[in-house]
Amino acid sequence: MSRLVVVSNRVAPIEEGQPTAGGLAAGVMDALRQHGGIWFGWSGDVRQEEVPPNPARTSGPITLFTTDLSQRDYDDYYRGFSNGTLWPVLHYQTSLMRFDWGEFAGYRRVNALFARCLMQLIKPDDMIWAHDFHLLGLADALRTAGAENRMGLFMHTPFPAPSVFSTIPAHAELIRAMCQYDLVGFQTESDRHAFTDYLTRQSGGQMLENGAVSCFGRVVRTGVYPIGIDVTEVRAQAEAERNQTEAQSLRAGLLGKSLIMSVERLDYSKGLRQRFGAYERFLAHHAEWRRKVIYLQVAPPSRTDIEAYRAIRKELEGEAGRINGRFAELDWVPLFYLNRSFARPALMPLYASARVGLVTPLRDGMNLVAKEYAAAQDPEDPGVLVLSQFAGAAREMETALLVNPYDEQGMAQALAQALAMPLEERKERHAAMIAVMREHSLERWRDRFEADLRAH
Ligand code: UDP
Ligand code: G6P
Repeated sequence: MSRLVVVSNRVAPIEEGQPTAGGLAAGVMDALRQHGGIWFGWSGDVRQEEVPPNPARTSGPITLFTTDLSQRDYDDYYRGFSNGTLWPVLHYQTSLMRFDWGEFAGYRRVNALFARCLMQLIKPDDMIWAHDFHLLGLADALRTAGAENRMGLFMHTPFPAPSVFSTIPAHAELIRAMCQYDLVGFQTESDRHAFTDYLTRQSGGQMLENGAVSCFGRVVRTGVYPIGIDVTEVRAQAEAERNQTEAQSLRAGLLGKSLIMSVERLDYSKGLRQRFGAYERFLAHHAEWRRKVIYLQVAPPSRTDIEAYRAIRKELEGEAGRINGRFAELDWVPLFYLNRSFARPALMPLYASARVGLVTPLRDGMNLVAKEYAAAQDPEDPGVLVLSQFAGAAREMETALLVNPYDEQGMAQALAQALAMPLEERKERHAAMIAVMREHSLERWRDRFEADLRAH
């Protein structure tokens, strides 16, 4: 049978115990751990000059191939076009987008570099599975290099409405390149629909059956593959003795208070500013909860050499200090704000200690933290998930308390509702979420995408 070759910009550390702050690497790692496979991507290292690819590393069934990036490639491709242009636009934050044709050329150059490295690795019947917005041009670059393999792309991020995507001056070229894939997969139906809408309205595409589109003289198939988690493993990690060290210190500090918890990379798309505002309102309008509740925000810094990320970090530092200054007492600090990452297994018992999981991104492809929070709960006494209606996860987790992340008042009310929710209601809502997550498992995500790509 043909091999599956996974390609992504970010690869997870294949040694145990390293923090993985990012849903793509976490999901791909879990998917590959079970079946094994080849994984190619950026090493995370930057060199002054171009250097040849690194030697392969193997861990269990996974063989990892990486390449370093030159400083110029990193600046143009990763810091510039991927994170300065594509990321904000894909998350509907067009006011934070900047564009430069030189950076776009760098994006294409690195997609071509990845293609050259892959041409040394792949066999003619291998299937290539590329991941995310860094690699919209990979299939095009591979085909230019002569590869005829089956190629699929999975978008972990949202795909915005055509009018939003078109704010990128190079939008037409990007779409043409995406159509060199045989299969393009999305987290939700609305993301898929936005993509096919662009093709039919702006690229002269013709809708065929089952989500396929005829465009640019090829047929590109589309599908919806919501990424999942291993529910049983998450719950086992939440209970495992070896993961308890940090959770024990946390519980010791709670002294019977209810914990509200949020975890994410420090990213402007995650809605932290509005969420801090909601917590402040909650404390202001629900004085009965003061001294009885603690909010823990874990926010490891991300993409720290990009101005928009520096700005949000600075702003949140100010806000956290201000909120604590306003409400803290000698014996109570209302907000714990941690700019550090945790190893993923150590997060699970922390989630299980939290009465409320507060996950309110302004936009998110899926949001694995929402799923992990729900899966980590004790089914006999579960906490409540308060979830943004604009996270892909909201399409599946309908029994979470769904909120508009721009509505600080609504989020404050949802917090009060979650903290006061009776056990029976918590159990019912939780059981429904677990049932959906078991059905939409990580295995199903991988198997369906792989089968659809194979069926081409
Ligand atoms: N994560 C982690 N350590 C941290 C913070 C996050 O391992 O300190 C993991 C988290 O458990 C989740 C992933 O990073 O699996 C974040 O994925 P999500 O889809 O929520 O957001 P993304 O970062 O991909 O936008
Ligand atoms: C999100 C993106 C991934 C990315 C991750 C971490 O999950 O969808 O593609 O890897 O964030 O961001 P980073 O820039 O550190 O890879």
